[in-house]
Amino acid sequence: MIFDRNEKKEVIALLGAGSMGTAIVRRIAAGRKILLGDISEKSLEKVSHDFKYSGYDVETMIVNALDKSSVEAFAQKAASLGDVKYFIDTAGASPNQAKPEHILALDMVGTGYAVDAFGKVMAKGGAGLIVASQTGYMYPIPYETELEILNTPTEKLMDLPFIRETAMQRSGIAYMIAKRVNQLQAQKAAATTWKARRARINTISPGVIVTPLAYDEFAAAGEGYQKMVDASAAERCGTSDEIAEAGAFLLGEHAGFITGTDLLIDGGVIASIRTGVYKLH
Ligand SMILES: NC(=O)c1ccc[n+]([C@@H]2O[C@H](COP(=O)([O-])OP(=O)(O)OC[C@H]3O[C@@H](n4cnc5c(N)ncnc54)[C@H](O)[C@@H]3O)[C@@H](O)[C@H]2O)c1
Repeated sequence: MIFDRNEKKEVIALLGAGSMGTAIVRRIAAGRKILLGDISEKSLEKVSHDFKYSGYDVETMIVNALDKSSVEAFAQKAASLGDVKYFIDTAGASPNQAKPEHILALDMVGTGYAVDAFGKVMAKGGAGLIVASQTGYMYPIPYETELEILNTPTEKLMDLPFIRETAMQRSGIAYMIAKRVNQLQAQKAAATTWKARRARINTISPGVIVTPLAYDEFAAAGEGYQKMVDASAAERCGTSDEIAEAGAFLLGEHAGFITGTDLLIDGGVIASIRTGVYKLH
């Protein structure tokens, strides 16, 4: 049985085939070709099985987001399948899953590799989405330092004094800084490499979203998360489907005038912190 006779399909590439990433892809996948990249073969098998048996055209590739050449090969593979219209990056590790070095290498540098690599293959009119985090709003970086970060090539980010001295202190700080850098990386690409290909790129900064990654966080620091969520306007955690809804909008044609920006989706956590209703310890 041939489900779809269309040969020239637009390509959606997802790096990090986890909970939020797959929810976003599912929203836009009909009639398109999906390329899933992840370091976990087991996850790829499970996710591609679910996509396949839901009627979608899917391929997989083992990709290590820490490795520049692996990420570049992933971008090349996507381009070999057709016009790369969508790129979504959700590969990441959270504070209680890893040491500062790993978080910075994956969430900051790895994301930079992906933004750079897909900035060479995106099709005209394409769109990218990087999943950052509400924590990108929790550790303000001085303006001059942000400019330095913006002007530093991805490979050299780890050498910056601010990263070596401040970000390396603890996993929590590394994560907050990495996620702010993601917002800057998307801004920079929107104005330069992605602009040159007439493609858009944005970030979403989710709050506490119930996923396997979040379960690891709750197990290690549940009390803090509980207080933060209770103090927020929504008084609840979010779901991957809510992030996917916004992701589909940002990737879609109705968002054609939106590039280089961040959408904070946190149930009001940052509002309660900024206004002093909730104090981060
Ligand atoms: N869940 C939350 O509360 C939350 C909140 C804000 C931001 N985020 C961020 O959203 C993104 C997605 O998180 P999620 O909750 O969907 O998590 P998830 O664990 O479901 O997905 C993350 C995926 O990244 C993959 N990955 C890890 N290391 C990799 C590597 N080296 N190379 C390639 N793939 C790798 C994992 O195998 C996994 O499939 C992450 O960047 C996370 O930091 C999560």
